[in-house]
Amino acid sequence: MFEKIFGAGDTNSLTMNKPHPDSLLDTGVQGVISRPIDRVDGPLKVSGTATYAAEYQLDGLAHGVLVGSTVGKGRIVSVDADAVLGMPGVIDVVTDFDTFLRNAQQGGETTAPTQGVRDVDYFGEIVAIVLAESFEEARAAAYALPIEYEKKEGQYAFQAHRTEGETPPDSVTPAKFTQGDIDQAMRDAAVTVDVTYVTPSQNSAAMEPHASIAVWNDDALTLYGAYQMPTSDAQQLAKSLGVSDKKVRIIARYIGGGFGSKLGIAPESVAAAVAAKKLGRPVKAVMARGQVFDATVRRSNTEQHMRLATDRNGRLTAIGHDSLTSNLPGEDYFEPVGIGTHLAYAGENRSITHQLVPLNLTLSGSMRAPGEAVGMIGLECAMDELAEKLGMDPIELRRINDPAVDPEKDVPFSSRALTQSLDKGAELFGWNKRNAMPGQRREGEWLIGMGVASAVRGNQLQQSAAGIEIRPDGTATVASAMTDIGTGSYTILAQIASEILGIPLDKITMKLGDTIDPPAAGSGGSWGAASAGSAVYLAAEQARKKLAAAMGVEEAELTLKDGYAIGDNRQVPIGELVGSGIEVTGEIKPGSQEKQTTQASFGCHFAEVGVNAVTGEVRVRRMLGVFAAGRVLNAKTARSQCLGGMTFGIGAALTEDLIHDQRTGKLVNRDLAEYHLPVNADVPQLEVHFIDERDIHANPIHAKGIGELGISGAAPAVVNAIYNACGVRVRDMPITCDKLL
Ligand code: MOS
Repeated sequence: MFEKIFGAGDTNSLTMNKPHPDSLLDTGVQGVISRPIDRVDGPLKVSGTATYAAEYQLDGLAHGVLVGSTVGKGRIVSVDADAVLGMPGVIDVVTDFDTFLRNAQQGGETTAPTQGVRDVDYFGEIVAIVLAESFEEARAAAYALPIEYEKKEGQYAFQAHRTEGETPPDSVTPAKFTQGDIDQAMRDAAVTVDVTYVTPSQNSAAMEPHASIAVWNDDALTLYGAYQMPTSDAQQLAKSLGVSDKKVRIIARYIGGGFGSKLGIAPESVAAAVAAKKLGRPVKAVMARGQVFDATVRRSNTEQHMRLATDRNGRLTAIGHDSLTSNLPGEDYFEPVGIGTHLAYAGENRSITHQLVPLNLTLSGSMRAPGEAVGMIGLECAMDELAEKLGMDPIELRRINDPAVDPEKDVPFSSRALTQSLDKGAELFGWNKRNAMPGQRREGEWLIGMGVASAVRGNQLQQSAAGIEIRPDGTATVASAMTDIGTGSYTILAQIASEILGIPLDKITMKLGDTIDPPAAGSGGSWGAASAGSAVYLAAEQARKKLAAAMGVEEAELTLKDGYAIGDNRQVPIGELVGSGIEVTGEIKPGSQEKQTTQASFGCHFAEVGVNAVTGEVRVRRMLGVFAAGRVLNAKTARSQCLGGMTFGIGAALTEDLIHDQRTGKLVNRDLAEYHLPVNADVPQLEVHFIDERDIHANPIHAKGIGELGISGAAPAVVNAIYNACGVRVRDMPITCDKLL
């Protein structure tokens, strides 16, 4: 049905059941891997010619504007479409996509059309799409659409319902993990910390709003969408529409940030697909900024009960990290707050648990480093409190509790450079200038302090495939349904292919973000680079085998560089070895290595802040991060990932706070003016350093996840620096001026 371009040639498949010590990236001589190469898609982006989802120009396009619920809980009694159908340009009002969407997002059943009569579970939930010949006409009618609601009693206030928490089913981390007896350990300990940290709801706030253009061709749907994981998003969309997943193609070539909010399908794609089918013409639906806040996903607020116990020498005997978060009733996702705590430190007695408080607020979902981004605030601030009680340097406390093996399973870490990162960071940052006593360093009105925190992010490999075609003219195309969400995938995947095949970067065309190409796990969970990168590696390995055979030399005797194959005292243009062209596919699958080793990336953050003694204003003066994530594939894009994470950390510590009206569930700050992300003036020069590391257990490219490592621990470094500056320990994020005065 959709014309496949790749996937016909040999497939080189590898399941990671054993270590993979040799990597062609170490023997390649092209010299591009790891280098800080500029983004290959950069010129398209800065010249405005990279086409984003909302920008495709299609004949007969109808414009859809979404309508959100104006009650926080209730039932729609009627939608008066007739009242707007006579307005200029209006084509139709479509309401019957709600069951499709619930089916996809919450696992419910698709039911019969309801003419919009349905339950509403949160304020702003998308309930209709108004279609018109122009965007302005659709928007005018969407504002005018009369919808009658029967209001019901909703639950909106976390504090009022916090005792109603229930243990959810296990997710990416166990909902409830206990080891030993933490209560006894707390009683027996020489030193303890028993505190509660609170973090608010947050929004990913990606620059590009969620956008889809849906086009049906008979019974097959093409969706131009802004999605992180097109392969699984197409499956999710097909399931929600009740069609075969072979009938849904998603094209997501460029994505203006996702940060988790575009992992799963959002309402605009289903609304556009259902409306396009009904109208028999293409439909575009772009969520307004406020709708992105209201009706995609939020990171849940958290309340984290931290308990730490040590012996006299600071050795941890117990770690407790027991969390409450909030969700819609019946929603199965939960914010995995304690996920980093499982791996961070030694300690025999452990309790890492999660409970869900049911609230009628926006769906909770993954936002950059789900779990660690907020969980490390609780853990790393409590560690800072513990260090002070012990009279011990915070780095020394972390060093002596850096476990030799997984503290909960009898398996080694695949690689772990936490202490090494801390030592390197301490030296580069000038940690020895820190005064352990808070409030001692003053410059005029400003109190100056330093803080540190560890970074931990689990590493995952996800099944992914990629195809490579090499043509007689020596050019190549690398294709995969992997995405580049601003992270640099286009560039690093081209570098991997170039390094192994000796084909210069400017002769490689990248084709990403289209589900007709080999399926990939896409961008999420920091698995993208390693998973898609390994698929490209395996495809290139297979192509290299073919080139060696065509050249008539052993693989070990073959050198590929600058477009030539060199061996047996001959030098032949690569294009002359491929006949009419060759095509190969590589496929990586996770295997038992994941169970035989615990895999995670590690690092640390250092922060120096000034706290104004008069106003309570906090300025981050400098931050420095050291990260160990296996092989760095591109020093520039990797650094940018970390800079973004650190910036997010500043936001989590100081400004980001998604506020719901506790009486109605309405989101109060639903735009970028009122939801305060750190901007240039809030972010000083940030320094990023990497530890040179290879992880042979992770995958054949020896890289681990880096995308979310940079945010893990960034906020608590700032929080700890604030304490060191002024001696006020704030445990309620974000730390606004009022909390310091
Ligand atoms: Mo990430 S929150 O898996 O995009």
